[in-house]
Amino acid sequence: MDKYIIKGNKRLKGSIKISGSKNAALPLISAAILTSGVTRLHNVPDLKDISTMLKVIEVLGAKYNFNTEKNELEIDATTIKTHIAPYELVKTMRASIYVLGPLLARIGKANVSLPGGCAIGPRPVNLHTSAMEKLGAKIKFEDGFIKARARKLKGSEIIFEKISVGATANAIMAAVLAHGTTVIKNAALEPEIEELIKFLNKMGAKISGENTDTITIKGVNKLKPIKYKVMPDRIEAGTYLIAGIITHSKITLIDVVAEHIEALIKELERMGVKLLIKNNSITIKKTKNLNSIDIKTMPYPGFPTDLQAPITPLLAVTKGISVVNETIFENRFMHIPELNRMGADIEINNNIAIIRGGKKLTGTTVMASDLRAGAALVIAGLAAAHETVIERIYHIDRGYEKLEEKLRNIGANIQRISGGK
Ligand code: EPZ
Repeated sequence: MDKYIIKGNKRLKGSIKISGSKNAALPLISAAILTSGVTRLHNVPDLKDISTMLKVIEVLGAKYNFNTEKNELEIDATTIKTHIAPYELVKTMRASIYVLGPLLARIGKANVSLPGGCAIGPRPVNLHTSAMEKLGAKIKFEDGFIKARARKLKGSEIIFEKISVGATANAIMAAVLAHGTTVIKNAALEPEIEELIKFLNKMGAKISGENTDTITIKGVNKLKPIKYKVMPDRIEAGTYLIAGIITHSKITLIDVVAEHIEALIKELERMGVKLLIKNNSITIKKTKNLNSIDIKTMPYPGFPTDLQAPITPLLAVTKGISVVNETIFENRFMHIPELNRMGADIEINNNIAIIRGGKKLTGTTVMASDLRAGAALVIAGLAAAHETVIERIYHIDRGYEKLEEKLRNIGANIQRISGGK
């Protein structure tokens, strides 16, 4: 297993280009199986989660060609032939469940292995399956699989009892080829959902209500393959913004949609950070004398759970007491014991973290437990005195494209050691 060695406490300088969004690209790749012919996606990040999703659609019979140098992906889904997403793939990436809706819509059946829990909580799939049932599918849980069948999906009203990004995406992808109209209420508003709607509409779908929590889908008979450029990754952008602030670096992020991280920007400005926001760039202007803040993670447009771990090291070094309330996932504080080992003073009380800030971080050996927890440790390592060794960075490789290259380009001292323990 690879690890990172970071020699921190260093100012960074220059600019970072933000990659295409992982969480937008994943549903677009599965939506490509809704149609025959070649779909062309640009700005697809070269990441472990993307290659896992490509393996999933390949098992189903699709062909692909991913030019990782150019971030261009071609998917030919003419030859979808099986309906089984096996455990070996689903267990490595929960987002494999994104093939449930498209398979049902395209070939009327889907067996998707139950993903099980993960480091951040139990992560049930009831909202995905009940949405499929609403559209007329018969669902069975058997042999560790979700087995879904529907001769032809029928438009219906789906009211989500809880906001779910994944279940909203699956419901949309299933409903686009259904007979009649589907109305989804209490839908997720995340930009990745808006992106999926734009993509499907370009393919010929009839979806309205993007940016609202009620989405209406008029079923069509057929979709056509298209060319599409994936939007920038808002969580990657937020991660590097925080990395710049914690190291007092006046770096610029390029290819970023500031509106997508407005909740983060607002909190940073409340802390006293000054940013220069332009059309597609953000430059850090002031990072000194910051004050503590309280944060509560919420569905979009609230503060994203995916940036909760990354902002924690910043709050740990900022004077005053900050309180973080994680409302989306049960177990998303795995980075905190590791940050405490680096000198932070953070107490966990159920889903609330009380951060006694103003501490100096020092490097030691720490372990990444999931993607964003890993990102938090990188941020801490960049700010910490001496050397930080981060183990299990395969979690980070799932979702950050060329992380060490991007950080080295702005002057960070970060090295990947291959084959460590
Ligand atoms: C997406 O996961 C993201 N993943 C996550 O990012 C992100 O943290 C999450 O949305 C919330 O923003 C991808 O886009 C691939 P949810 P998703 O369904 O869709 C509960 C990262 O680091 N729930 O919106 O799986 C669930 O337990 C990843 O990039 C049910 O109860 O999240 C949670 O409490 C991690 N039943 C809440 O809903 C269900 O059937 C929101 O989860 C589904 C979800």
